[in-house]
Amino acid sequence: MPEPIHQVTFQPDNITVDVYRHGENLLRVAMAAGVHINASCGGNGTCGKCKVIIDQGKVESEHSAKISDEQWEQGYRLACRTKVIDDLIITIPPESRIDNSALKRKTGGQRHILKARDLNTLVQGLTINPAVFKCYLELPPPTADDNMSDLGRLMREIKRAYKYDHISTDFHLLRRLSRVLRQAEWKVTVTLVYNPKGFKLIDLEAGDTTKDNYSIIIDVGTTTVKGQLLNLEECRIAHSNANGTDADNENLCAEDAKYNSQVRFGEDVISRIVHSQKKGGLEELQQAIVGDINDIITQLLKSADIRDDQISHLVIAGNTTMTQLLLGVDPKYIREDPYVPTANFFPPVRAVEIGIKLPDYIHLYVFPQVSSYVGGDIVAGVLGSGIFQREELTLFIDVGTNGEIVLGNADWLVCTSCSAGPAFEGGGVKNGMRAAAGAIEQVRINPETYEPMVITIGSQKTMGICGSGLIDAAAELLLTGIIEPNGKFKRDLDTDRVREGENGWEYVLVYADQTASGIGDVVITEGDLDNLIRTKGAIYAGCRILLESVGLSFADLDKLIIAGGFGQFINLERAITIGLLPEIEPEKFLFVGNGALLGSRLVSFSREMMKDARRVADMMTNIELANNMKFMDEYVAALFLPHTDTAAFPGVMKILKGSG
Ligand code: FES
Repeated sequence: MPEPIHQVTFQPDNITVDVYRHGENLLRVAMAAGVHINASCGGNGTCGKCKVIIDQGKVESEHSAKISDEQWEQGYRLACRTKVIDDLIITIPPESRIDNSALKRKTGGQRHILKARDLNTLVQGLTINPAVFKCYLELPPPTADDNMSDLGRLMREIKRAYKYDHISTDFHLLRRLSRVLRQAEWKVTVTLVYNPKGFKLIDLEAGDTTKDNYSIIIDVGTTTVKGQLLNLEECRIAHSNANGTDADNENLCAEDAKYNSQVRFGEDVISRIVHSQKKGGLEELQQAIVGDINDIITQLLKSADIRDDQISHLVIAGNTTMTQLLLGVDPKYIREDPYVPTANFFPPVRAVEIGIKLPDYIHLYVFPQVSSYVGGDIVAGVLGSGIFQREELTLFIDVGTNGEIVLGNADWLVCTSCSAGPAFEGGGVKNGMRAAAGAIEQVRINPETYEPMVITIGSQKTMGICGSGLIDAAAELLLTGIIEPNGKFKRDLDTDRVREGENGWEYVLVYADQTASGIGDVVITEGDLDNLIRTKGAIYAGCRILLESVGLSFADLDKLIIAGGFGQFINLERAITIGLLPEIEPEKFLFVGNGALLGSRLVSFSREMMKDARRVADMMTNIELANNMKFMDEYVAALFLPHTDTAAFPGVMKILKGSG
């Protein structure tokens, strides 16, 4: 654990919390400490309910019209507009507390979100030798005595200087080979691509351009497309300077993301496959995703101020449907029994051939996949998190539109995919939205007054609720006894926030006058809770089935890795409270962020990792859950908060009994 930078003590409950970031938002600190401060505008500074008094220490705070000059002089500040820059003693005045009770439950479970620099802690023996690399050569010009062809001369020098054998040549290069050699006066840089059978010569440039060696990696998600630009040459330098302790980080030059434009043809993979079967549908989908990738590449080049001819490699990881749509390969049979993809291993293809606007020598490496519903993004995640190298029994969960789960170690890997439903991405939830500015991401509810404390992403006015907010809200509703374990609201509570709305019973998180639109209350309904319970039930049941398939249980796990952008934001303790994740020791959990990008970085830096990607995909045995009766039984058992098998959640049950 890092050392705390500041400490904040909240009075009158005398709760002290460590703060690890200079400038942390005071309302977020209170929430992490389980201290209730009224907050109904999402931390936007407009409701004026989060007033606190700074008794001791310095803060940075915005002057707000919600605080009079006299109050300002007395030390009143809005917690949501205040930064912690010192050790503080704070008093929460009665009007910000509603009553004298504070939520003293411990919140915010331990978690460790890995940064890129932690790559070497995940994978063992990472050697930095990019699969696409450059070599500078000074060739002797041809003479009457040495009149070998230009290509032969080049090959001879590569073999002589670098001892590389089995080099093939990209045909397109031949058309300009002679001209470039002479214009460069025989001083050139060649770009070679490693493949298991040898090397391929793909480019030739005048002079020494070995420093211009960049890779672009793309995660093609159903909802979001993310890209990063990596400097492969600096990586080599950074790695050797750091004695192998930092394989990455400094070489991340730029990153960009955008929503997948295919979404206009359907939210999920099934509706996009359906669209692909219409006349011109496959072309529309292919062009949409290629357009997104081109936009991201343009932005990456602009941000890093480099040219496209400085790029050498393009690596893409996506789920099976996204991969086939990108390549223009008909995905029809992915959704037809027995659900087989066209291929699990795609040969390298020139990026330009599928419409990507990069120089014609750049090849696209597509991550191999396992099955129709366990794709290259999951293989990349398994590769990047190093499961395939360790003896420890590891469960890997990637939560997105689908829930993909992998179990195993260095000897074996089994995997499955459960259609978790889009609840975590805002789908099927009345006020659901993606994790964007204005989305409620954290919720605490006072157990006596049932008043909420709400924080939105970016502290913007509330627009809706995202997946992590939904999990938080459901856990709080359960812990405060507002809902029963079956997800139904208690009808007789003394609060106006629980009411019968037009979509059935609901809890008001934010009243309309504090929302961005100003026209509708932001609520969580019984229907939303139903969707959430089905989603978490499918993931938990999928995990149980995988474990049972090899005769193991959650108790046998050494590690549980959570990947996916969503995984970065969920509160571990809350996810366990609702039974999305199993109740095992907190130190066994590891959050690795975006698995697709994690694995793509490794493949960019290391040709051994490129080989391992194929090995990992080959190792993974897919277990199909469709028509699996055991899965249905497990699923039904999991449609309860936290679970019908309460013995599997002793800690949660203890808290529930204590709060009931
Ligand atoms: Fe701070 Fe509303 S003014 S939460």
